[in-house]
Amino acid sequence: MTEVKTQEGVLPTKELYHPNIGSYQQAYKESIEKPEEFWSKQAQVLDWHRRWDKVLDESDAPFYKWFVNGKINASYNAVDRHVLRNKRNKAAYIWVAENGDEKIITYDGLYRRVNNFAKALLELGIKKGDRIIIYLPMILEAPVAMLAAARIGAVFSFVFAGFGAGALAERINDSKATMVITADGAFRNGKVVKLKSIVDEAIEQTSTVRTVVVVERTKIDVQMEEGRDIWWHIVTRDSHAYVEPEWMDSNDPLYILYTSGTTGKPKGAVHGNGGYSVWIANTLKWAFDPEDDDRWWCAADIGWVTGHSYIVFAPLFLGLTSIMYEGAITFPAPDRMWEIIDRYRVNILYTSPTAIRTLMRYGEKYPKMHDLSSLKVLGTVGEPINPAAWKWYYENIGKSNCPIIDTYWQTETGGFMISPSLSLGLPPLKPGSATFPMPGIDPVILDDKGNEVPNEEKGFIAYKRPWPGMFLTLNNDPERFKKTYFEKYKGMYYCGDYAIRDKDGYYWLLGRADEVLNVAGHRLGTIEIEDALIASREVAESAVFGKPDPVKGEVIVAFVVLKEEFEHDRDIVTNLRKRIREDLGPIYVPEEIHLVKLLPKTRSGKIMRRVVKAVALKQLPGDISTLENSVSVDEIKAAIESFRKEAGD
Ligand code: PRX
Repeated sequence: MTEVKTQEGVLPTKELYHPNIGSYQQAYKESIEKPEEFWSKQAQVLDWHRRWDKVLDESDAPFYKWFVNGKINASYNAVDRHVLRNKRNKAAYIWVAENGDEKIITYDGLYRRVNNFAKALLELGIKKGDRIIIYLPMILEAPVAMLAAARIGAVFSFVFAGFGAGALAERINDSKATMVITADGAFRNGKVVKLKSIVDEAIEQTSTVRTVVVVERTKIDVQMEEGRDIWWHIVTRDSHAYVEPEWMDSNDPLYILYTSGTTGKPKGAVHGNGGYSVWIANTLKWAFDPEDDDRWWCAADIGWVTGHSYIVFAPLFLGLTSIMYEGAITFPAPDRMWEIIDRYRVNILYTSPTAIRTLMRYGEKYPKMHDLSSLKVLGTVGEPINPAAWKWYYENIGKSNCPIIDTYWQTETGGFMISPSLSLGLPPLKPGSATFPMPGIDPVILDDKGNEVPNEEKGFIAYKRPWPGMFLTLNNDPERFKKTYFEKYKGMYYCGDYAIRDKDGYYWLLGRADEVLNVAGHRLGTIEIEDALIASREVAESAVFGKPDPVKGEVIVAFVVLKEEFEHDRDIVTNLRKRIREDLGPIYVPEEIHLVKLLPKTRSGKIMRRVVKAVALKQLPGDISTLENSVSVDEIKAAIESFRKEAGD
């Protein structure tokens, strides 16, 4: 028996997962020493219309080009080739509605729906290179829309359906999208979220949208604007459509996905066709080793990169059967996930530490209500997993039989960067460590000056060489792409995370090193929230930071200075919350909003978020010699005390 060491003691793992690290090391070595040969081989996991001339062109670094002059189509690889070979009747998705209804769609069914909607897109005037926004809940039309766009070479940008009108408008404007695909509403926690009316509100702040396609999901009343809005079921009436896939250059964009950075403006990460597809198909195989007959459940939302790569493209490229669940994981009861695993005999579950901690809070009673014996492998993503949650997941869900694949990666990286590799050779697992780099990934941990730090010391993680899944650029902002990611360390990709490598070479990811928050696995920018607060007519200044939270990892705390003419009162706080909810979306709403009279600032007038956070969290502020007015520090302390009293803490 292998031993798994955790801070809480030693966990036994079954002989079945006896480490076989040797073959991983061999694959890794080959990927680093002979990258051209290695990637040429890996690229064959997909069907190419034209083979590439060169694996990697670095001449315009950091705008790296993978599989130069290769021609490929993501929708062809996701559906056509399975229909043409032997997977026509295999389930592509088992879709479970929040009310428990199910729909099973085969590869042939998906192929037909994709063609159908691709034809509709063409008829609505969308061509190769056009930008379209997809703002849909977890329904089957979401992958269909993504694949249909990919089929005709239109560049889609999926906006998570939990975002508010302001956030949606910003993404429409930045991408200059001419079409929005949405639904009348979405079911969430037994309630309806009125998506179409959010779209209507967002479009008022934009000027490029000509068409809105609306899926009828909830049957709530919606306003359909004559000449602009059209129902999905009307445009897809021709059920015999076939659209020849547009053979895309490997380095043509496939999609844009916005993610938060250190300014108020989200960054539009642009992913390409060839390198990205090769990367995600291989990383899924390496990390999780799915077998043909397995049922794979990536329980993320399709609107985030995890959903793009591992609900839509990679599992379809590999011809797998995925579970797709529409609703909240605690609805109608906290056994929802366990019930789905039991009902569909799910083999691999991939979810977030926040989901695990949320369900763990309800206790073992819920997983015990169901037969989870079909599970073979478990995975996590999005934030560091604490050993206690790891252990709970391992014992109560995996019944000490399933390895936990902790995948560390980012929107920008397209797919897993650091993760145990089940198919190549699983290392002994250490709860909380994402273990070792994927083949082709060459990480290094550096100090601020670019010197490599010794093992066991915290530093910034960077990557010494490009990999196929990396984003091509930032939409409309190649300068920001270079500056944000490639300037801190020359010739390397800097990703904004702290990490440690331990004496056994394991990587431990320690969270963001910048002003970016990770709330329940969602990446949010502090400045975005501050900007939204300042946009309220009452607010003069604000400072936002993340406070550690046992379930969500971090929660948002805001300190706000009102303009002089406004009195401090609770209604203002309620209104601020409401405005953030409507503008940015519910995930951005601060857990705490404190009204204060002053914020600590440097002599040059910059708000010292670090000091606000340190005082609020009762950690000693660092150097406060540059503070303009130390009164505000006391006031922040007083605000916290009074909030704690009011909250009955
Ligand atoms: O800080 C890291 C954290 O999430 C960030 C990326 O967020 P996003 O682009 O939204 O993508 C999330 C899904 C891939 C990273 O910079 N992160 C992600 N996975 C892990 C993680 N931190 C620790 N362990 C992980 N497994």
